[in-house]
Amino acid sequence: MSTPSDTDSHVYDRHPHQAPDDRAPEVLGATGLVKRYGRVTAVDHADFSLRQGEILAVIGDNGAGKTSLIKCLSGAVVPDEGEIRLDGKTVTFENPLEARAAGIETVHQTLAVSPSLDIASNLFLGRERRKQGILGSVFRQLDHKGMRADAARHLDDLGVLTVQNMGQAVETLSGGQRQAVAVARAAAFGSRVVIMDEPTAALGVKESNRVLKLIEDVRDQGMPVVLISHNMPHVFQVADRIHIHRLGQRACVITPSSHSMQDTVAIMTGALDPPEHDAS
Ligand SMILES: Nc1ncnc2c1ncn2[C@@H]1O[C@H](COP(=O)(O)OP(=O)(O)O)[C@@H](O)[C@H]1O
Ligand SMILES: [Mg+2]
Repeated sequence: MSTPSDTDSHVYDRHPHQAPDDRAPEVLGATGLVKRYGRVTAVDHADFSLRQGEILAVIGDNGAGKTSLIKCLSGAVVPDEGEIRLDGKTVTFENPLEARAAGIETVHQTLAVSPSLDIASNLFLGRERRKQGILGSVFRQLDHKGMRADAARHLDDLGVLTVQNMGQAVETLSGGQRQAVAVARAAAFGSRVVIMDEPTAALGVKESNRVLKLIEDVRDQGMPVVLISHNMPHVFQVADRIHIHRLGQRACVITPSSHSMQDTVAIMTGALDPPEHDAS
């Protein structure tokens, strides 16, 4: 078992894929974020940094403030203090729509898809396309055919979902396929960042693996991913770096090659001090 003093936190090239190094530019970042709920300080001067080309896992004990941090980044709550940056520019989000418009797509644990709608309609939910000409402009008819063709292409691009019929209702899909639709939504609209909150929590082994593969595919296609997860094997399987959140703050950033799972959990619970030099 390694200790913080004998680990090399600057080793990135032991990953099977091309992990980004510390020269990769930051896409989404935050400094000194504070979010209080009455007397509870859920986020206590937290820093955050997601780099181009990476899967950044965010882990931490229950109540550490992970969800509150993600809510600040995705516009669901407005932080009391601190700065959020997107592509190097300071941004403020009053609500989730503003964050989404800026390119931050969040896939919540309870998926923001409508089960009874078909796949194409789900992909275009809130961004429906109308038919060309008078049928669309006056009669407000939706371009179902065009949306289905595009939906099929987006899902095909991601290479994980072979859905025969884009008119199939989402409620007939498995949990993993629903995740895929939600991620495809994010990927389809030129988002800069995808944030996924516990995407594999409700899935079986096979489906989890598909979703993990999907997350890697999204990353490999150039969109960095924030993965909030309790599942250490999943985190170690796909993360390039691991942000450990503790007591409302970022305790440190490690990598799957710099630390064992056991030490990672020990840092998370406070049993082990964070390393002096980390991967942040
Ligand atoms: N809406 C809220 N009102 C009051 N307290 C909250 C609210 N949301 C979170 N908290 C508190 O903030 C702390 C961090 O919670 P949360 O961000 O959900 O942590 P995590 O996602 O890591 O489990 C907890 O003490 C929690 O009880
Ligand atoms: Mg949470």
